[in-house]
Amino acid sequence: MANIAIGSDHAGRVLKDFLHNNVKGHVFENFGTEGSESVDYPDFAEKVCLAVREGKADLGILICGTGIGMSLAANKYKGIRAAHVESIFTARMAKEHNDANVLCIGERVTGSENALLMVRTWLDSNLGGDGDEGVKSRHKRRIGKIHALEEK
Ligand code: RB5
Repeated sequence: MANIAIGSDHAGRVLKDFLHNNVKGHVFENFGTEGSESVDYPDFAEKVCLAVREGKADLGILICGTGIGMSLAANKYKGIRAAHVESIFTARMAKEHNDANVLCIGERVTGSENALLMVRTWLDSNLGGDGDEGVKSRHKRRIGKIHALEEK
């Protein structure tokens, strides 16, 4: 069971609420938006990313129209590894290879049932997948190099 921070802008709100209601077995904190008023996606990326970075949530999910703006904003936060995914395969790789702690999806791109499978796949996957410790340490080394870039 994971504590999951979820947020969206107006273009992702319907999918955000669908995922919130249909991903079972985890505890969600919903950071909005609520309603259809136009809002700015970086404001919601900030709420979710700070919750993850401060340890109030284990993982985050961000939804906008394409998933692109949310991933661009989220990856500005130190410690955040946000993956913008459009398939079940990339959702799995986002965890197995990149240990993504935030998943970004586009409501205008991905149907709700497909998005649900993507989120479940990401949640059920592990860093390194079925590989041995060597595989895991290789991915960890690369992830460490990503975070070293935060100092450049
Ligand atoms: C909002 O119109 C849209 O630009 C936003 O949801 C997102 O797709 C940006 O990347």
